[in-house]
Amino acid sequence: PPLDEIINLHDLEAVAKAVLPPKAWAYYSSGGDDEITIRENRASFQRVWFRPRVLRDVSRVDWSTTILGQKSSMPVYISATALGKLGHPDGELNLTRAAGKHGVIQMIPTLASCSFDEIIDAAQPGQPQFLQLYVNRDREITRRYVQHAQKRGVKALFITVDAPQLGRREKDMRMKAVDDNGTAKVQDGQSDVKKDQGVSRAISSFIDPSLSWKDIPWFRSITTMPIILKGVATPEDALMAYDAGVQGIVLSNHGGRQLDTSFSGLENLPPIIAALKTRGPWPNPNFSVFVDGGVRRASDVLKALALGATAVGVGRAFMYAFCAYGQEGVEKAFQLLNDEFEMNMRLIGARNLSEIVPEMVDASALHSR
Ligand code: FNR
Repeated sequence: PPLDEIINLHDLEAVAKAVLPPKAWAYYSSGGDDEITIRENRASFQRVWFRPRVLRDVSRVDWSTTILGQKSSMPVYISATALGKLGHPDGELNLTRAAGKHGVIQMIPTLASCSFDEIIDAAQPGQPQFLQLYVNRDREITRRYVQHAQKRGVKALFITVDAPQLGRREKDMRMKAVDDNGTAKVQDGQSDVKKDQGVSRAISSFIDPSLSWKDIPWFRSITTMPIILKGVATPEDALMAYDAGVQGIVLSNHGGRQLDTSFSGLENLPPIIAALKTRGPWPNPNFSVFVDGGVRRASDVLKALALGATAVGVGRAFMYAFCAYGQEGVEKAFQLLNDEFEMNMRLIGARNLSEIVPEMVDASALHSR
């Protein structure tokens, strides 16, 4: 359909499914094992209900914010998703260009289809970008990659910690990875790929499963970028991250692609915020808590913010947006979210994000099923 018939992010997913080759759809849409967590990511947002306030003069509403010191037009960033060229010949550059135009921050994946420098070069002057890091068994390769990123102006380093081994995405495994334009130019120095276990497995064997808390000081020593651990799921680990001196965590289950029957980021949010409050007042300007997984509506984002999140990551929805429509599709996704933010902010009675408070949601059903 023409782009002006797209009215929400779900529509973009339906169009992506229709236009993508089966192998690309399998790689993008799949989750781990029985895909219970991937469904939970969506379902959990539907168990949080709003407690809207009225008569608050909402003629002007503003949902712009700051993420890790960088201006963002909305409390949403583009989370790293590998292999953009499986969906569109311009791959990740669709995201970069749309993000630059709309003041949204893109997290660049280690396993992008476009080269790291291409993605940096496609950004506008001053456009903030983050980097997602898979840590190589050869730390020298990782050191060079991180320091190059810092030199090229990347504003924050998101170290993925929920993938010592990639999950079994069985839809993807049935497709067998073969070489085509979706092949990752693996930045990170690995070339010996196995092609019989699906795309995910084929591109990931360089990732170091020995990564541990002991490595955090080394990362601190090689970069001055803020360090965020992507894929924290318990209050215990949230406190360890805080005490390790990193600048934030992402409550994420990797879009349901890793450990199946793990909770959604949203479900993990209240207990983790409660744990962090034992270390001091919340929000904490020196420690950010992000959430991702299943976000398709501005109302989802506002629920996470009300429960204490700093901002929210979106993976698949922005990726699906470029499959059929390229950069324009991603811009459309941003516009749709902006329209939804305006309406939802008015309807819940918040003029800016500091007025999104815990009392605006009822999360008492969040942990029941
Ligand atoms: C991902 N994600 C991911 N995360 C990461 O740290 N490194 C990566 O290379 C990738 N690659 C990737 C590919 C694809 C196709 C998907 C769908 C996801 C996870 C991503 O950053 C994010 O955590 C989830 O996508 C969030 O869930 P939603 O928004 O896709 O539901």
